[in-house]
Amino acid sequence: MASPLDVCAYRRGRPWWRDAVVYQIYPRSFADANGDGIGDLDGISSRLDYLVELGVDALWISPFYVSPLHDGGYDVADYRDVDPRIGTLADVDALIAEAHRRGLRVIMDIVPNHTSSEHRWFQEVVNSSPDSPSWSRYIIREGKGADHDQPPNNWRSVFHGPGWSRLVLADGTVTDYWYLHLFDDTQPDVDWTNPEVRAEFASVLRFWFDRGVDGFRIDVAHGLAKDPELPDMDYDAMPQTEILGVAPEAPYWDQDEVHTIYREWRKIADEYDPPRILCGETWAPSAERLALYQRPDELHTSFNFDYLAAGWDAERMRSSIDETVDHHLAVGAPPTWVLSNHDVIRHATRFAPTPDGRPVTGPVEVDAEVGLTRARAATVFMLGLPGSVYLYQGEELGLPEVFDLPSEARQDPVWFRTKGEYTGRDGCRVPIPWSGTQPSFGFGPREASWLPQPAAWADLSVASQVGIAESTLEMYRRALAQRRQEPALGEGPMAWLDDSPEGVLALRRFTPDNDQPEVLVVINTTEETTHLPSDYGTDVVVASGLDVAAVSGADGEHLALGPATAVWLRG
Ligand code: NOJ
Ligand code: CA
Repeated sequence: MASPLDVCAYRRGRPWWRDAVVYQIYPRSFADANGDGIGDLDGISSRLDYLVELGVDALWISPFYVSPLHDGGYDVADYRDVDPRIGTLADVDALIAEAHRRGLRVIMDIVPNHTSSEHRWFQEVVNSSPDSPSWSRYIIREGKGADHDQPPNNWRSVFHGPGWSRLVLADGTVTDYWYLHLFDDTQPDVDWTNPEVRAEFASVLRFWFDRGVDGFRIDVAHGLAKDPELPDMDYDAMPQTEILGVAPEAPYWDQDEVHTIYREWRKIADEYDPPRILCGETWAPSAERLALYQRPDELHTSFNFDYLAAGWDAERMRSSIDETVDHHLAVGAPPTWVLSNHDVIRHATRFAPTPDGRPVTGPVEVDAEVGLTRARAATVFMLGLPGSVYLYQGEELGLPEVFDLPSEARQDPVWFRTKGEYTGRDGCRVPIPWSGTQPSFGFGPREASWLPQPAAWADLSVASQVGIAESTLEMYRRALAQRRQEPALGEGPMAWLDDSPEGVLALRRFTPDNDQPEVLVVINTTEETTHLPSDYGTDVVVASGLDVAAVSGADGEHLALGPATAVWLRG
C-alpha cells in the first residue's frame, strides 16, 4: 500500500520537492498549546489536520532551538536541543511522526552563518585569550588605530549599526579585538574557513536527519563565505531600507567559495533514504547567480526573492518569471515562488495602494480591501507558476501586516538597533487567530499572546472563514486542491500568451508531452475589468474573486475579468 508520503510524491513520479507547496510556520506565533502566550511544538502538532485540509505538502518550521531570542530564534545557543519555551526533543519526534502519518514533510531551519553569543563556542571565546583555538571559530580581528578602538573595516549590520563589536571578555577585560556580526551583536559570525566549523554543522545536519527531518531551510545561505581581505564597502551607493541585507555586491554575500559548503551538504543529504532536501535562503544579485546554488550537486532549491520584490507590477513579475525559469532550466532545477515570510511586510498589505502611490515599505495607511484583493490574485497566479511554492502562516487567512504594535511589545532587533526609526518585522509575526471573539482568538487556551492581536482579527480567524466559499481560506483550499490534481501545474513547461491585454499576464501550462488538459493561468493587475481573448475559453477552474463573468461578444463568448483578479482556465 502506498504510504501517505507517496500520495503527494508528485505527478509523474518526480521527487516531491520539485513542485511541493511548503507552508512556513513561525513557531512562536502559530499555536500555543500550554497557554503561556508563546507558540510551541505541541501547538503545531495539534493543528496538523488543519494543514492537511489546507492542502500543503510540507512544513518548514522556523528555528525552535535553544535561544536567548534576541532575533526570534535565529540566534541559536544549542543546535541539538529545543528551547524549553517551545518544547522538547520528544515533541519534535512526535511532531515528525504525526506529520509523516498525514503525508506532510517537515523541514527545519538551520542557522550556519552565526551562532548566538550564548552558544558554548562563543562562551569559550570570552573566557579565554587570543591564542585559544576557540577564537578561530569566529571572525575576530584586531581593531584599527593605535588603541585598536576602530573596527577592522566599515561593514554594517543588516539590522543597522556597526557590523563589528569590540570583544569584551567575561571578566570585563576590553580586548584589542573585534568580532564580526552581520546581524545583531548577539549573533557573532562563524568562520567557515575553519574545518572544525564545517565538521560541526555537518554533524548537526546528521543529528536532525537521523531523527527523520526531511530537509533544511538554510538561513543566510549566501553569506557563509566572506572575502578574506575583508575590504571596505561602498554603502553610499546603496539604497537605505529597513533591512540592509539586499546589498547584492557586498564582499560578504554570494562569494564563490560558499558553493563548496553546499556540495558537502548535498552529499550528506543524499546519504539518506529517502534523500533529504536543502533549500537556501539565498539572496543573489541575479537569477543567474541564484541558479548556481541549484546545480545538481548543491542545494535542491532556493527562495526566489526577486519575484517577491517584483511586487504588484505586471512587467516586473513577467521579467522575473522569465529570468527565473530560464536560469533554473539551465541547471535542471525547479523554480520556487514566495510572496510572504516572517521577514517582510505581509503581501496583503504590501500590495495595497497608498495615498501617495508609493510602495509600502513601512507603517503607512493603506487601502486594505484592495490590498487583499490583489494578494488573493497574486497567490492564485503564483500557484499556477512552474515549480514549488512557499506560503507563510496566516496568508491563507488574508492577514494584514500589523503596524500599530505598542513599542513595549516589539522584539525585533531592527527596532532596537535603529532606536525605533525602523519598526522591523514584528508586524508579520503576530499570533494566528484560530477562533472566537476575544484575544488570543484560539491561539492558546488563555488570552496571552506574545504580540497583541488586533480586535478585528476575530473576523479573520480560521473558524470565521471555514465553509464560507468566498473567504480567503476557502480560496486557498480550492486552489491547492486543484493544483495537486492538475498534471499541467507544478513543475513543467509554460508559455506566455502574448495576445493578452495590457496589464494582464497570461500563460499556458501543459504537460511535457501535452497529453493532459492544459491550464491557462491569467492575472489582471489593472484597476479595470479586462476582456480576455475568446480563445482563452470561459471554463474557470479556480478564481481569486467573484468578479469573473462569461460574456458574449462578436466572436463568441469570452471572459470578463475584474480588476485585480486571477483565474485558472481549462485550456
Ligand atoms: C534571515 C532570517 O529569515 C531572519 O529572520 C533572521 O533575522 C536573519 N536571517 C538572521 O539570522
Ligand atoms: Ca506555549
